[in-house]
Amino acid sequence: MPLASGLRGARVLVTAASQGIGYGAAQAFLGEGARVVVNSSNADRLTAAVRRLERLGEVHGVVADLTRPDELDRLLPETLDHLGGLDTLAYVTGSPHPGVFMEQGYEDWARAASLLVVSPSYLARKAAEAMLSGGSAGRMVFLASFAIREPIPNLATSNVCRIAIAGLVRTLARELGPRGIRVNGILPGYIRTARIDEVVRDAARRQGTSPEEILRGIEREIPLGRIGTPEELGRAVVFLGSDLSSYVSGALLPVDGGILRSVG
Ligand SMILES: NC(=O)c1ccc[n+]([C@@H]2O[C@H](COP(=O)([O-])OP(=O)(O)OC[C@H]3O[C@@H](n4cnc5c(N)ncnc54)[C@H](OP(=O)(O)O)[C@@H]3O)[C@@H](O)[C@H]2O)c1
Repeated sequence: MPLASGLRGARVLVTAASQGIGYGAAQAFLGEGARVVVNSSNADRLTAAVRRLERLGEVHGVVADLTRPDELDRLLPETLDHLGGLDTLAYVTGSPHPGVFMEQGYEDWARAASLLVVSPSYLARKAAEAMLSGGSAGRMVFLASFAIREPIPNLATSNVCRIAIAGLVRTLARELGPRGIRVNGILPGYIRTARIDEVVRDAARRQGTSPEEILRGIEREIPLGRIGTPEELGRAVVFLGSDLSSYVSGALLPVDGGILRSVG
């Protein structure tokens, strides 16, 4: 018997979803019959994404910059206007600029903290309020990075700030579990998106080599021998964002082709 996600008709918000990992997650939820709101900060890119996703099911776009409190305040009410409630939050966000620690100034830290610490924490509370007022069980999935376990060279602000997601997931899992909300995180490895192109180009410039050579070096480090796809990550988001993971909460799941070496 095939495993049932139970997502048919489920109400799902995926943030930062006009492309890349968020878009892949939205595709996966729509494939399971969920009703989906996708968000991003750029109206043109989001409209184009919604047009492509509409072929798969019911989807709406809500433009909001995840680094702006007034826009975060708007995101949940507008989502609820479309969906009438919230069953799953899949939180993805934008990327801080690549760079080593000694290049970072106050504004770089402030932007990274806003994007990677304040925004998911603040939105999580709004989402929990929406789930609790709906009276049914909910799920939250926070997309972070394998940098939480092993810092990645040249991504200093990300290495420092992403760790907040581990604290957020564990804190919420304990606080909200008794109230019927499960909270988990995903630690993507290298996934084929525009972000990876940016990281690879930056590394190539610094090392005086080609992006292709950098990419081959990364692939040699991955036991499965290749970069992952947003579709492969989307399946893990559906797992944690649905009844398929009904006894999982507070977990941080690497989806990384085996690149993590640490045991803990
Ligand atoms: N790709 C990887 O290998 C990898 C690995 C680990 C972690 N990550 C992290 O996963 C996240 C998604 O990465 P990705 O690879 O999917 O990147 P991507 O292809 O560059 O997509 C980023 C998405 O974030 C949206 N976005 C950016 N800033 C935003 C903001 N302030 N408010 C709302 N939406 C915003 C963008 O849409 P608009 O431009 O339309 O706003 C876009 O849809 C990032 O935090 C990235 O650092 C990626």
